[in-house]
Amino acid sequence: MSAQVTPPRGKGVFRTKSVEQSIRDTEEPEHALRKSLSAVDLTVFGVGVIIGTGIFVLTGKVAKETAGPATALAFVAAGVVCALAALCYAEFASTVPVAGSAYTFAYTALGELVAWIIGWDLVLEFALGTAVVAVGWSGYVRSLMDNVGWTMPEALSGPDAAEGVGFDVLAFALVLVLTAVLVVGMKLSARVTSVVVAIKVAVVLMVIIAGLFFVKAENYRPFIPPAEQQPAGSGWDAPLVQLMFGYEPTNFGVMGIFTAASIVFFAFLGFDVVATAAEETKVPQRDMPRGILGSLLICTVLYVAVSLVVTGMQHYSELSVSAPLADAFKATGHPFYAGLISFGAAVGLTTVCMILLLGQTRVFFAMSRDGLLPRFFSKTHPRFRTPYRPTILLGVVIAVIAGFTSIEELATLVNIGTLFAFVVVALGVLVLRRTQPDLPRAFRTPWVPLLPILSVAASVWLMLNLPVETWVRFGAWMALGVVVYFVYGRSHSRMAREAG
Ligand code: ALA
Repeated sequence: MSAQVTPPRGKGVFRTKSVEQSIRDTEEPEHALRKSLSAVDLTVFGVGVIIGTGIFVLTGKVAKETAGPATALAFVAAGVVCALAALCYAEFASTVPVAGSAYTFAYTALGELVAWIIGWDLVLEFALGTAVVAVGWSGYVRSLMDNVGWTMPEALSGPDAAEGVGFDVLAFALVLVLTAVLVVGMKLSARVTSVVVAIKVAVVLMVIIAGLFFVKAENYRPFIPPAEQQPAGSGWDAPLVQLMFGYEPTNFGVMGIFTAASIVFFAFLGFDVVATAAEETKVPQRDMPRGILGSLLICTVLYVAVSLVVTGMQHYSELSVSAPLADAFKATGHPFYAGLISFGAAVGLTTVCMILLLGQTRVFFAMSRDGLLPRFFSKTHPRFRTPYRPTILLGVVIAVIAGFTSIEELATLVNIGTLFAFVVVALGVLVLRRTQPDLPRAFRTPWVPLLPILSVAASVWLMLNLPVETWVRFGAWMALGVVVYFVYGRSHSRMAREAG
């Protein structure tokens, strides 16, 4: 870091934290996290969180209902949106190596109110993302249990399976166990993660390689199925863009690829979580960009390959929507592979869940350290040096959400929140280049301002392809956040008190 000290700028809700201030805050012993992660740890973390419910579950649903074999193109489109955002994230993460991801970046570049909004948004993304994955995990575990003849009572299988109120006891228990692991310490969780990630990647490679032998060319015809009118609904579940431009909402066709991209985008969610661990990284200036871009590239290649293989094995209209990868092997008469895939998925989703939970607690921690949430939550554990208070609080809340909520509605809400964060980060790169051009940046986003502008446009485009009801729910959550900020955060903010 340079010796030059930039004073905080801006007033009131526009006050920004200097980069030096952000780094100084992390050096207070009581509020400091241990620096133990390398670029390889971060890549493993990235792959560990990125490959999950998206590829294991959503691929089948999207291929069957929205895009057919062109789902592979939807993955490419979503991957491009993420790569653009990743290049912006990498500059920020290597400049401001402090826990809290887009939240911290926004505080530095765009001021306190925007930072609060983004932090509040990330809470939604990570908390609901954790819940979605926990519920997906529970589905795979139940399917494995079924194989050996143990059947979970419906009332304990979650709201999707039960009539009336269902409680997903497995998803609930998973989140609580992972919470305990995170309280005990980062290093332990990174080690557990590496083993599990290896199993998961092996299973994905097995799907690709073994599946290639069962691909039939006729399943790819037509590769982009012709557009079909959506069944008449209230219009709430139609993509906003189709409603805005007065289209009859359709599935498939070229527009279907973008609708599919806005859903399978969930499969990429998580590379930004790597950025939340900046403060715990040994050499963030070097390791962050490597970790973020490396994990994203690996996953994109795997996703495109998996979706091509699966839609080649089975006609898209016959794919299963709950366990498409395993069921495609069952359909071609290979139940042994199907069992292995289910096992790998169940194991793999565990790490996804854990890392999302980790990202979530780190954002909460950073917001609390800044006084926007009660400072009580940013005392680290005297022995484990982990932010145990927000970890426990959020772990319990998320466990309950995972127990009582169904996957589908949550996933699109997670996507809109993440895309919104991408928009803010890309704008942040532009603003910080202008306001603090001389700041040392270990990684510089190429083609500024073109690339950040493209990143904003691409993220907004995917957001517009999400359903109207998702926009309404997202708007309600964000409005609540603004109220909380003006009632609590604005007056309790550390920056406000220091200025006062
Ligand atoms: N990308 C992660 C998944 O697909 C969140 O489960």
